[in-house]
Amino acid sequence: MSRNVYLVTGGAGFIGSNYIHYLFEKYAQVKVINLDKLTYAGNPENLNDLKNNPDYVFIKGDICDSTIVNRIFEEFKPDYLINFAAESHVDRSIGDAEDFIRTDMYGVYVLLEATRKYGLERFIQISTDEVYGSIESGSFTEESPLKPGNPYSASKAGGDRLTYSYFNTYQLPVIITRASNNYGPYQYPEKLIPLFVTNAMEDKSLPLYGDGKNVRDWLYVKDHCKAIEFVLKNGELGEVYNIAGGSEKENIEITRLILELMDKPESLIKPVADRIGHDRRYSLDSSKLHQLGWQPQHSFDVAMRETVQWYVDHQDWWKPLKSGEYLEYYKKHYPEGKSLT
Ligand SMILES: NC(=O)c1ccc[n+]([C@@H]2O[C@H](COP(=O)([O-])OP(=O)(O)OC[C@H]3O[C@@H](n4cnc5c(N)ncnc54)[C@H](O)[C@@H]3O)[C@@H](O)[C@H]2O)c1
Repeated sequence: MSRNVYLVTGGAGFIGSNYIHYLFEKYAQVKVINLDKLTYAGNPENLNDLKNNPDYVFIKGDICDSTIVNRIFEEFKPDYLINFAAESHVDRSIGDAEDFIRTDMYGVYVLLEATRKYGLERFIQISTDEVYGSIESGSFTEESPLKPGNPYSASKAGGDRLTYSYFNTYQLPVIITRASNNYGPYQYPEKLIPLFVTNAMEDKSLPLYGDGKNVRDWLYVKDHCKAIEFVLKNGELGEVYNIAGGSEKENIEITRLILELMDKPESLIKPVADRIGHDRRYSLDSSKLHQLGWQPQHSFDVAMRETVQWYVDHQDWWKPLKSGEYLEYYKKHYPEGKSLT
C-alpha cells in the first residue's frame, strides 16, 4: 500500500497535535508535514514524542506565506491538506482582530491557491460551530444561515465560505467541517476547561463570565480527530459536516464539575463581567454525519475526568505556558524545523 502524505497546518496547536498523534496511531505507513507558525498557541512540545520519527516533518512557517506553502507542495506533494491553522481565541479577537483576518481568511486563500496550482486529493477546512452564531432553542443544520457574532467567528466564516467557493468555481476537492467546543489534552490554558483546571490546582479563582448560563456543546478532541479522518475518507466534495459531541452544558455546570472532580470548593468561582457580544448558546445538529456513519465514542463524564487528570498529571506542560517562560524557552532552544531545499 502506498504511503499517504498529509500536510497538517497549525499542527502544533491543540486539535492539530492530537490529530497528528491520531494519524500515527492509526496508520502504520503515513507521512505528516506539519506547517505551523508557532504563535503563542503553537507548542512543539506537544509532538516531542515524534521528534526523531523520519515520517514526521515539522516546518516553522506561516500559511499566509505563499513561497513557503508552494515549496512544501513541490517538495512533499501532499495527498491531503487539513487546515487547523487559525487564531482561535474569541477574547483575543475582541481585543485586536487583525491576525484573525490575516490567518483565518487570507491564509486560507493562500492554501487554496497552492491547491489549485499543484492539486491534491482532499482539502479539509476546519471551520467551527461559531459561524452560525447563537441559537435560543433547537439546533443548527448545515443549511442554516451563517450569522457570526464576533471577529473570530466572522473571520472563520470567511475562510469557510472561501473554501466552498473554490469547489464551486474551480472544482477543488474541498470539504468543510464545523465542530463544537473541543476539550482534551494539550489545550492552551487560556480556554475555559484548562484555565479552570489549572487555576483550581493553584487555588486561584475561576473567572466565570456573566451568569454562567451560556451553553456550549462539548466534543472530546479524540472524537473530533476521528470525525475529521472519517469525513476525509467518506465525505462528499463541496459539502459541510457539523461535528457535535452531543453534550450541551452551561458554563456553570462545567465549572462545578471541574471543582467536584478536583475536590475544590465552589468559593473559587468568581463571576466577572460578561464578554462583549457573548453568544448565549451554540447547538449543532450532526445527523448528516451520523447518517454517513460517524458517532462520538467517548462519554462526556469519562472523557472529562480523564481530561482533568491529564492536566493534573502534566504540570510540566502547562506551568511554563502560564508563566510565559515557555516563549522565552522555545525561542532559545527550539530548532526552526526542517529547512526546505
Ligand atoms: N478548540 C475548539 O474548541 C475548536 C472548535 C471548533 C473548531 N476549531 C478550529 O480548529 C482549529 C484548531 O483549533 P485549536 O483549538 O487547536 O487552536 P490553537 O489556537 O490551539 O492552535 C492553532 C495553531 O495554529 C497555528 N497558527 C496560527 N496562525 C498560523 C499561521 N498564520 N500559519 C501557520 N500556523 C498558524 C498556531 O501556532 C497553533 O499551533 C482552528 O481552525 C479553530 O478555529 C476549534
